[in-house]
Amino acid sequence: MAPTRTSAAALTPVPATPAPDAPPVTLGTFRATPLARAYVEQVLDSGRLSYGPFSRRFEERFADIHDSRFAVLSNSGTSALHVALQALRELHDWQDGDEVLVPAVTFVATVNIVLHCGLRPVLVDVEPDFYGIDPDAIAAAITPRTRAMLPVHLFGQPCDMTRIMAIARRHDLKVVEDSAETMFARHAGQMCGSFGDAAGFSTYVAHLLVTGVGGLSTTSDPELAATMRSLCNHGRDGIYINIDDDKGHDRATTETIIERRFRFERVGHSFRVTELEAALGMAALEDWEPMIAVRRSYGDHLTQRLAEVGDRLQTPARRPDTEHSFMMFPLVLREESKRELVNHLEANGIETRDMLPILPQPVYADGTLVDVTRSRFPVADWIDRNGFYVGCHQDLMPSQIDRLADTLVDWCRTAPRTQA
Ligand SMILES: Cc1ncc(COP(=O)(O)O)c(C=O)c1O
Repeated sequence: MAPTRTSAAALTPVPATPAPDAPPVTLGTFRATPLARAYVEQVLDSGRLSYGPFSRRFEERFADIHDSRFAVLSNSGTSALHVALQALRELHDWQDGDEVLVPAVTFVATVNIVLHCGLRPVLVDVEPDFYGIDPDAIAAAITPRTRAMLPVHLFGQPCDMTRIMAIARRHDLKVVEDSAETMFARHAGQMCGSFGDAAGFSTYVAHLLVTGVGGLSTTSDPELAATMRSLCNHGRDGIYINIDDDKGHDRATTETIIERRFRFERVGHSFRVTELEAALGMAALEDWEPMIAVRRSYGDHLTQRLAEVGDRLQTPARRPDTEHSFMMFPLVLREESKRELVNHLEANGIETRDMLPILPQPVYADGTLVDVTRSRFPVADWIDRNGFYVGCHQDLMPSQIDRLADTLVDWCRTAPRTQA
């Protein structure tokens, strides 16, 4: 990881412009399949936009696939995580400023939901090869005020949940899995999102299932599920959450529901989503296996192709006994800043994004919301400077994946080395 400088004056510069008609290598995709169109049409014909049959089916099927008893649909992955943590805070009576452990590499939403819940995020460094929260670094971050951990299954690969859950049990901590980037992936034979007390998934643009906006919280705890559902619906009494809830009961029950129909029990949110998003989600869910199969084969192919430049560019390692869903393909230059390579890729029609840096974010810079001292998180700091990701999705053609690999290999072989 130490920065080096190598003279490479004799190397040939890499061409900076793509072939004029080369299709861009995008990060994500959305395709309105015939099934998606048919489901959306069904919703439009039904005249029912609020929580209804598609939302219910989507929740049930998603929960089932992810080894969980319940899924609660909401309008984003952020909302799904927010209600999970807020519900745990309510049910376990945590106090303002109690601490939640969060990895130092993640999307800002993971940190922000802790702040929105009135709790204090405490960063933990990540693993240098798998990029998950580092189980070896967790113990040092635990204090008498630590209440929960938020492991983040980044880029499509689950964290080391076997060790994380053992630590949680030992220290009596709750666990919310941030699975916004990872679906359909097992660790030790068990689906991501089913290890902790709850999990949050995202169906935002360019994710594995795309509904436009959307999220799902999963849990197998009925009380937690009911609290999360209430929180998504303004804090409503769980007796009446959707417009079917007052139908089909005997007279006495109906009258009770009518009496309590407009009762709010907690300070909740308007995190609802419509049947249109659920219809898109349901259509995508019916096709998840071929979608993931293509991503996994592209992930394997890129890993093989890039092995020859592995001394310069690190490809994502696979955790033993763990599946990878390749929501994207993360890459880290071992000893150099990513800037030149990223600019080269972008100039060649290959989209990139930074690898989810938290430490350099202006919003946290003064250290009052969260301690972002770089020297405390050397692996995250290295990833922030040298790491980025590219697309690995099912709507890329094999020729695009090969063009991506060729471009990376050529650059690694020929571009002069720079200082990190
Ligand atoms: C790790 C992680 N957590 C949370 C989120 C938030 O999801 P959403 O954008 O649906 O709110 C994202 C979004 O991409 C994410 O990558």
